[in-house]
Amino acid sequence: MKNFAIAIDGPAGSGKSTIAKIIAEKLGIIYVDTGAMYRAVALFCIRNGVDTKDETAVNIILPKIEIRILLENGVQKIFLGDEDVTRKIRTLEVGQGASDVGLILSVREKLVEIQRDLAKDTSVIMDGRDIGTNVLTNAQVKIYLNASVEERAKRRLGELKGNAIDSDIDEVMKQIIIRDKSDMTRELNPLEKAKDALEIDTTNMDIDQVVNEIIKIKEEKLMEAGIWE
Ligand code: DC
Repeated sequence: MKNFAIAIDGPAGSGKSTIAKIIAEKLGIIYVDTGAMYRAVALFCIRNGVDTKDETAVNIILPKIEIRILLENGVQKIFLGDEDVTRKIRTLEVGQGASDVGLILSVREKLVEIQRDLAKDTSVIMDGRDIGTNVLTNAQVKIYLNASVEERAKRRLGELKGNAIDSDIDEVMKQIIIRDKSDMTRELNPLEKAKDALEIDTTNMDIDQVVNEIIKIKEEKLMEAGIWE
């Protein structure tokens, strides 16, 4: 069968990674989490005392950042050099830093190249902010996931707690609102729904419903595109 790509974009906490991971497993394809790459860049900067908002300083340190992606049963693990940072990038501070470095052209160029390369010879489901609009513009399936701010904050808080990170709902909500604004209004590849993307509001849907909906859309789209399984 010909390779295909599913692009999932949407704001923080809309359920992208949870959903994409399950779909990747069900379809036996690779899941690429692009937010993790921006987070890894931010973590490296923070650890080295570089302000993630300081474009000049980030540009200087960027060539030293060695991001490696390893796939374990189709699920992405992310490394800085030899260190597995998959869990260490899941903090609010790193999330905000990722949004900051996502404003910088050199960072976006470096990461988009890695992302396109990962999707080159295989079927993928990739999530982020600019996948349908920039990274994989030819993806056969484009989804824009959304949910209310309250629901997204609740989900993010659950995720943080799952990673043993203490926070509260007001703090998480505040961070989400700041991040949405920065991601949606930035000059370079802002978060927006691609013209040919289908929007799914997941506020009142459970995980299975969203997964099934996307798989249904994928089957229809691949049929339209003449790609058979
Ligand atoms: O999905 P996430 O919360 O892990 O993403 C963290 C930040 O990284 C997000 O707020 C903006 C940035 N990002 C981006 O600019 N482009 C992407 N494709 C993915 C993430």
